[in-house]
Amino acid sequence: MKLGVLASGGGSNLQALIDAQIPVAVVGVNVPGCGAFDRAHAAGLPNFVLDHRAFPSRADFDRALVARLQKYDVDLVVLAGFMRLLTPDFLGAFPHRVINVHPALLPAFPGVHAQRQAFDYGVKVAGCTVHFVDAGTDTGPIIAQAAVPVLDDDDAESLRLRVLAEEHRLLPAVVRAFAEGRIELVGRRARVRVPILQ
Ligand code: GAR
Repeated sequence: MKLGVLASGGGSNLQALIDAQIPVAVVGVNVPGCGAFDRAHAAGLPNFVLDHRAFPSRADFDRALVARLQKYDVDLVVLAGFMRLLTPDFLGAFPHRVINVHPALLPAFPGVHAQRQAFDYGVKVAGCTVHFVDAGTDTGPIIAQAAVPVLDDDDAESLRLRVLAEEHRLLPAVVRAFAEGRIELVGRRARVRVPILQ
């Protein structure tokens, strides 16, 4: 399986994939100089920067993104903190082959700053979700979730870090399951043949 990882931020989820020794064919970032780019470079991974601000439209940006990923024969795209919505054209180029990690227990708290949304809401259990990407915002079929408690002395930052640690366990486990053909999508229900996290 040829894995393409897209990222916009610090790149700790990319690092988790690298540390789990999951082969990464290419890393693409849309924010020049972001941490994910440095991590890709440090790991000696093929990489590219496509700054979305340089494109006249979302469609143009996505077309360029597809072309770059196809150059590396990518057959699974992982959004690891990639903060751009993707067009149906992009998704059509990789049908049921784009997955995202989101820092909340979907369908609660989609969108940005999900951990803060959950903290401000006052939830007692938070967590993260890995899901297939569809044209909506964090609405695609859920593959796996991991929960963490919210403690009385938490603040938004301590909760963010606890959730992030679970992302680092869950995302590589899901990618491995996908690579091994253990994930099957039936309607909007993803079935995983063995438990992803023990
Ligand atoms: C992660 O918490 C990821 O779940 C989140 O951005 C962070 C990226 O961290 N993604 C989203 O909120 C997407 N809606 P990282 O760059 O250190 O991996």
